[in-house]
Amino acid sequence: MSNSNIQTVRGVKLFTKKHKSLKKLLANPDSPEIHGDKVWFSSYFIMDYLAAKPPALKSRILEVGSGWGLLSIFCAQNYDAKVTAVDADKNVFPFLDLHAELNMVKVKSKVCRYENLKPELLAKQDMILGGDICFWDELVEPLYQLITTALEQGVKRIVIADPGRPPFLTLARRCKKLHKAKLKSVSISSPRSHTGYLLTIEN
Ligand SMILES: C[S@@+](CC[C@H](N)C(=O)[O-])C[C@H]1O[C@@H](n2cnc3c(N)ncnc32)[C@H](O)[C@@H]1O
Repeated sequence: MSNSNIQTVRGVKLFTKKHKSLKKLLANPDSPEIHGDKVWFSSYFIMDYLAAKPPALKSRILEVGSGWGLLSIFCAQNYDAKVTAVDADKNVFPFLDLHAELNMVKVKSKVCRYENLKPELLAKQDMILGGDICFWDELVEPLYQLITTALEQGVKRIVIADPGRPPFLTLARRCKKLHKAKLKSVSISSPRSHTGYLLTIEN
């Protein structure tokens, strides 16, 4: 595949909007409907965190609210992780599949809302990740319940990143109180400068 209109971010290849494969998907009437229409920069906060605190090789990782799943691809590529990308919107997965193929990795996908993820699936995971997934007030409770159930089921690490939207900060406060979560300010300078937060919970 030609390298024009492909950028590489933290070792992961990403089509730019000028690339014909991405243009074709973006022109499809079945396009993502819940903000999964691009890669959001919170995923890069988590990639940098993982680079500093890597998961064990072949860990089982669930990325929730995956959108295009660049974070899932990063985990499959760098840690040979068995990754499942979950999103409520089935229309994000053609974007994930396109980029998984470009990066020559396998990522499983599952259409599911946070609140419908079964405890049995959570019990199989070592880690749960999510970038920019708590952007409406009504997402706080389902995500809090998901985190609580995942911890009960033995998930060892949960990492959620966000630019600092109020619903995320509400979720973070609740998790700090009941789950000894840590909230840390973070910043990146590439692919662009951004600041935000990482919420980490160790079980
Ligand atoms: C702002 S995007 C972030 C996408 C990706 N994590 C990233 O960093 O590029 C939020 C994603 O969460 C998904 N989403 C929203 N509400 C959801 C829910 N209740 N359950 C599962 N996924 C949801 C959307 O479809 C969208 O793909």
